[in-house]
Amino acid sequence: MDDGIHPQAAFVDGKLVGGSAMLSLAITVPGPRVVALGGVTATGVVATHRRRGLLRAMMQAMFDEALGRGEPLAALSASEGGIYGRFGFSPATMRARWELDRSDARLIDCAPTVGSLELVDAAVARQAWPQIHQQIRRRQIGELAPDPDRWDGLSDDAAGTDGPMRYLVHRDAAGNLDGVANFRLLWSPSPEHAGTLVVEGFQAVTADAYRAMWMLLTDFDLTRKIVAPSRPMDEPLRWMLRNPRAMRITRQSDNLWLRILDLPAALTARAYDTTTELTFAIEDDSMCPHNVGAWRLAVSPDKVTCTRTDKRPDLTTDIQSLSSLYLGGMSAAVLAGAGRIRPHRPGAVNDTARVFRVDPEPFNSFGF
Ligand SMILES: CC(C)(COP(=O)(O)OP(=O)(O)OC[C@H]1O[C@@H](n2cnc3c(N)ncnc32)[C@H](O)[C@@H]1OP(=O)(O)O)[C@@H](O)C(=O)NCCC(=O)NCCS
Repeated sequence: MDDGIHPQAAFVDGKLVGGSAMLSLAITVPGPRVVALGGVTATGVVATHRRRGLLRAMMQAMFDEALGRGEPLAALSASEGGIYGRFGFSPATMRARWELDRSDARLIDCAPTVGSLELVDAAVARQAWPQIHQQIRRRQIGELAPDPDRWDGLSDDAAGTDGPMRYLVHRDAAGNLDGVANFRLLWSPSPEHAGTLVVEGFQAVTADAYRAMWMLLTDFDLTRKIVAPSRPMDEPLRWMLRNPRAMRITRQSDNLWLRILDLPAALTARAYDTTTELTFAIEDDSMCPHNVGAWRLAVSPDKVTCTRTDKRPDLTTDIQSLSSLYLGGMSAAVLAGAGRIRPHRPGAVNDTARVFRVDPEPFNSFGF
C-alpha cells in the first residue's frame, strides 16, 4: 500500500549506515493551485561513513522516484544552510521571530471588529485547527497540506516552566469559526523573564479575526512582552501598531527550501498575473539533467507554456535561483545582485521579477 512515505537506506558491507525519506505532500503555489511535492525528511548518515557520497546517492534516488510519481518539486527544512544548495535546493519561504513590549503595543484606531473571541480547551482547539488550516492553505502560497493527526498532540497539560498551552478562537458575526491561536504564558521566578506571552500558532481566515485576536494577545493582563517565534516576514500586525518599530525582529531565517525537479511541469503548474514571455537558460543541473538548456516561458492569466527554445535567452540562472523564485517570495534583483541571475538584455531582471513575484509573501506555518 502507498502511504505516501518513500524511505531510502544506505548500506555498506551489509550494514545500515544511513537513511532518509521522501513524503508525498502537497503545496499551494501561485494561482492559488495545489501541486504535488516530495518532502525530504529524517536524513542521517552515521558519523563513520560521512562524506563518501551516501547522501548524494540517496538524494538522487529520491529525486528519480519523485519524478516517476509525477512530483515536479522537492522540498525540505535544512538543519544546516551549507548542505543542500549543492543538490539544487534553495530557500523559497522565510520566517521571522519577533518581540513586542506590551507597553509599546498601542494600536491605531481602526474599524471595530464584529466577531467574538473565546478561550477554549485543547479538545476544541484540536477541532478548530484543521478547519481553519484547510481554509488558509487553499490561498496561502507556500502552505503545506498537513498530516491528518497533526494537531492530535495539543493538550491542556502544563509542561514545566513553559506553562500550559492556551487556546483562543475567533468566530464571525454569524458564529462561524474564522481564527485560532495557541499561546503560552511563561512562568519564571525571576521578574525579568516572567510575563512573556509566546504565540506558538496563529491563523486567521479574515482580517477581522486577525485584528481581534492580536488585539487580545498584545494586551493580555499580567504580561509584559509578546513573542512570536515563527511568523511571516510581512506581518500585518506591524502596521496595526502606532509605533511600527516597536515590533523587533529578533531572528530571520529560511524556512522551506525548494528544488524544481521537472522544470516545465513545475513552471506550468503555477499561475501568473501578467502576460509576457521570458527566455532563460539553465547551464548546469547534474542531478536533473533534463532541466538543462534554454527555455521559453510564455505566461498569461489564462495560459502558460514552457518549451525549449533556440532563441538567445534573456538571462541565465542556476536551478537554485529559479527554485527560490518559484513561489514568488524572492527578489530577482537580489539574485542578480548576487550574480546568480545573469541578464543578457536590459530589463530582463525586472521582467523576471514581474513574472514570478507574489504578494503577500509565501509562507508555510510548519515543516515536516
Ligand atoms: C548531513 C549528512 C546527512 C550528509 O551525509 P553524507 O553522506 O556525509 O553526505 P555526502 O557524502 O553525500 O555529501 C554530499 C556533499 O555534501 C557535503 N556535505 C555533507 N554534509 C555536510 C555538512 N554538514 N556541511 C557542509 N557540507 C556537507 C559533502 O562535503 C559533499 O560535498 P561535495 O558534493 O562538494 O563533494 C550527514 O553528514 C549527517 O548525517 N549529519 C548529521 C545529521 C544531519 O545533519 N542530518 C540532516 C538533517 S536535515
